[in-house]
Amino acid sequence: MNAIERLAVLRAEALACTACRLAETRTQVVFGVGDPEADLMFIGEAPGRNEDLQGEPFVGAAGKLLTQLLSEIGLERSDVYIANVVKCRPPGNRDPRPDEIDACKPFLRGQLELIDPRVVVTLGNFATKLLLRTETGITRLRGHVYAWWRGKHLIPTYHPAAALRGGERVLAAMRDDFALVRQTLDAPPEPPPEPEPVHEPAPAEPRQLGLFG
Ligand code: URA
Repeated sequence: MNAIERLAVLRAEALACTACRLAETRTQVVFGVGDPEADLMFIGEAPGRNEDLQGEPFVGAAGKLLTQLLSEIGLERSDVYIANVVKCRPPGNRDPRPDEIDACKPFLRGQLELIDPRVVVTLGNFATKLLLRTETGITRLRGHVYAWWRGKHLIPTYHPAAALRGGERVLAAMRDDFALVRQTLDAPPEPPPEPEPVHEPAPAEPRQLGLFG
C-alpha cells in the first residue's frame, strides 16, 4: 500500500473513531482535506460548528480568510493539506481536553508521516503551544521558522479567527508569516547528511523529538 492509500485507510479509521467523548456529540469527523502529497500542511485546533456540519476543516469565515491568504502567496487550498489537532468538534467550541488530544494523536501523527510535508504551519496559540511544547504565546513565537519533528520546518502564525477579531495589525502579521512560508517553500531542500565514515564507531542514537515537542 502506498502513502496515499494508507492515508485513506487512516481516514476511514478516524471516521469510525469512538476513542473519546467527542464522538458522542459530533455530527461528523473532520479528518482533513487537500493534497495528500502536499509540501505545506496547516494545523488548526479543532473543528467549529460549520466544520462539524460540513466535514471539512476551515470552511467558515476563518477558512475564507485562510483561502485568501493562501491565494496571496500563489496557492490554492487544493495545493496544501489542512487538518486540526483534534478531529471532532468540542461542544460549544471549548478547548480540547488533554485526554481528547491524546486519543486523537495517532491520527495527526499518521497524517504527518504519510503526507510528509516539508513545512507545517500552526494556526493560533493552541496548536502552536502544543506542537512546539511551550507556554510562550503566539505573539512572541510567530515571525520565525522552527526546526521541528523529523526535519520539518514549523512556522507558527495567528489563528485566522484572531485576524477577523483583531483587525489590521493581526492581519498584517499573518501576511508577513505567509510570505515567510512562501520563502521557506521556495528555499532549496536541505542537502542530505554526509555519509557516516565506515571505520569509526557509530554515534550514539540522537534523541528523537516526540510529535508534541
Ligand atoms: N478553527 C480551527 O481551529 N479549525 C477549524 O477547522 C475551524 C476553525
